[in-house]
Amino acid sequence: MIPFEDLLWVVFYAALAAFVVAVVALGALYGLRGRSVATQLIVVGAATVLATISGILVISFMMLLNDHDRSVVLAVVTSAGLVAMAVSVLLGRRLVAANRTLVEAVRADRFRPPPVRLPAELAELSRELEAAYDRLAASHAREQALETSRRELVAWVSHDLRTPLAGLRAMAEALEDEVVADQRTVQRYHGRIRVEVERLTEMVDDLFELSRIHAGALRLSRERVGLADLVAEAVAGAEVLARAKGVRLRGDVREGLAVQVDAGELGRALRNLVVNAIRHTPSDGTVEIIGGIRGGRARVTVADACGGIPEDDLPRVFDVAFRGEAARTPGGGAGLGLAIARGIVEAHAGEIGVANDGPGCRFEVCLPLTV
Ligand SMILES: Nc1ncnc2c1ncn2[C@@H]1O[C@H](COP(=O)(O)OP(=O)(O)OP(=O)(O)O)[C@@H](O)[C@H]1O
Ligand SMILES: [Mg+2]
Repeated sequence: MIPFEDLLWVVFYAALAAFVVAVVALGALYGLRGRSVATQLIVVGAATVLATISGILVISFMMLLNDHDRSVVLAVVTSAGLVAMAVSVLLGRRLVAANRTLVEAVRADRFRPPPVRLPAELAELSRELEAAYDRLAASHAREQALETSRRELVAWVSHDLRTPLAGLRAMAEALEDEVVADQRTVQRYHGRIRVEVERLTEMVDDLFELSRIHAGALRLSRERVGLADLVAEAVAGAEVLARAKGVRLRGDVREGLAVQVDAGELGRALRNLVVNAIRHTPSDGTVEIIGGIRGGRARVTVADACGGIPEDDLPRVFDVAFRGEAARTPGGGAGLGLAIARGIVEAHAGEIGVANDGPGCRFEVCLPLTV
């Protein structure tokens, strides 16, 4: 039985020898830090074997081991060490192979996690890469959709501008050449010119607003506004149009709550909804604007009697330049109103949506309540 004090010395010298080996190994690992994991694993394996051998040499120098025992122990440790190194090499090669599979998957057009079982860290990396790829693909798709709608918008808008411009030019030429001379026709031409100019001005104004929204340049000057005032304003602004079309227009706010909004911008968004509703409601129909509270948020709904929007069109009505079949007629809108309304509502951290309901459809605007 070895005395306790000798055992402590053995531990001390063996730890010292192992420490020296560890320092050399760490130095080597530092020098090789940019190399393959397989190479670094070989260094770790070699350091483990060398630390054990140095311990054995220490105890043989302390005369605790005779020559015969030392040879036996060294032979055992060396063969075990060689096997351990072989395992390190195998593990290193597996890691390198797994890494290569991942790299090949990343190089492919569409990243899919490799169908092999990866070590936990690489599997996590693979999951993160897949999520990043999906996000990238989604934003690419969004960008393409935006680009397509922008191209369509330019095509439609230039068409929409050209048609009334051609009319204006014809009327102006007729007036200039005095082709029309009787007082009533001259007056009618003047009236039409004014209406067309107003429509074109509105369209240019909408385009400007939309480009400000898209550029993120919409500056909101928020103030505390009663929901009732917003609804009353929207009703008042559309009353003439409703009367001219024979549509009943009703506004109603049950709770007296306030929101912190840019009254001008939000009024514009609501006006777009109400004007659409009146345009698509047959005479004698009703358009209802209701303000209230829902799920801790302020809610304004605009319900009409349009007969419902086709299901296929529902998700697209807020797209720039989208117009339903019936609206693609000369003199119809440019398909900007709802895109503007959505931009304004989202700039207020709100949400806008539409669903078919009853005799028509219901547009819904939700806004955070003022605290
Ligand atoms: N209240 C509604 N009822 C039925 N369809 C609607 C209603 N509001 C919008 N739509 C459909 O959504 C399309 C897009 O509406 P949006 O307000 O963006 O454009 P627009 O009214 O055609 O033109 P603009 O508003 O630029 O004058 C409309 O063309 C119409 O087909
Ligand atoms: Mg509109």
